[in-house]
Amino acid sequence: MRERSEINKDLELCDQEILKLLKKRFGYVEELTENMKAFDLPVLQPEQDKVGFKKLVSAIGDNPYGEELQSVFQQIETAGKRVKSRNLFDFNIALIGFMGAGKSTVSRYLKHKLAMDEVDVDSVIVKDQNMPIKDIFAQFGEEYFRDCESKAIIKLQSLRQTIISCGGGAVVREENVANLKKTSRIVLLTASPETVLERVKGSDERPILNGNMNVAFIKELMEKRAELYRKAADVMIETDHKSVEQICEELLKALIRLER
Ligand code: S3P
Repeated sequence: MRERSEINKDLELCDQEILKLLKKRFGYVEELTENMKAFDLPVLQPEQDKVGFKKLVSAIGDNPYGEELQSVFQQIETAGKRVKSRNLFDFNIALIGFMGAGKSTVSRYLKHKLAMDEVDVDSVIVKDQNMPIKDIFAQFGEEYFRDCESKAIIKLQSLRQTIISCGGGAVVREENVANLKKTSRIVLLTASPETVLERVKGSDERPILNGNMNVAFIKELMEKRAELYRKAADVMIETDHKSVEQICEELLKALIRLER
């Protein structure tokens, strides 16, 4: 049987090798990202991700450490996504747009694909106030809610590599837009009033729409806010009849183009 110190030395050597390879791997990720930026290539490669995963599972094969190896590679993949997103953007992505424009769906998808952090301004308010949005509106009124929203946006300024999903009314105060712009690029998601109605009609969580769940009301409020949304946006993406993958690909490409 080998000496303990000798085995420990071998383990250290293994770690050095792993470290060397990981550095190399992250370097390749950066190279890929530079390539993407230079040639305007797709940022999301869902098919490639699937193929890569399948190859890895088959390389692991029937192995006594199969579970551990899969979990390590999952971590490596996540770390690679973070290297990629950091290389693509050194700013936060703030999502704005009317209720039902798809901010939460897009945020969730981007978080998964780019391993960025994700924060929802409404959720910050709910946590700070310890009550649902509709109760805040009912008990204290809209102005109070808007004050909470402005405070939450200020609080989020220190975040990095984060997708900030804003409530639909965040743009009604100019200070919110100015504060978001300090560390984020602002992406406006749009949808037609009909699409919005389809997406929100099953929920009673939006006090502004309760009792007003119809296309005419949505259209009117949307038009009232349209100029504010447009002025705030660095990038604008239409979401009607598109898959979340399509929307995110467009959005990422547009953000990359902004940096050129
Ligand atoms: C609001 C939109 C809601 C929420 C609040 C007010 C608005 O967020 O902040 O009900 O004024 O448009 P979502 O856009 O996420 O639904």
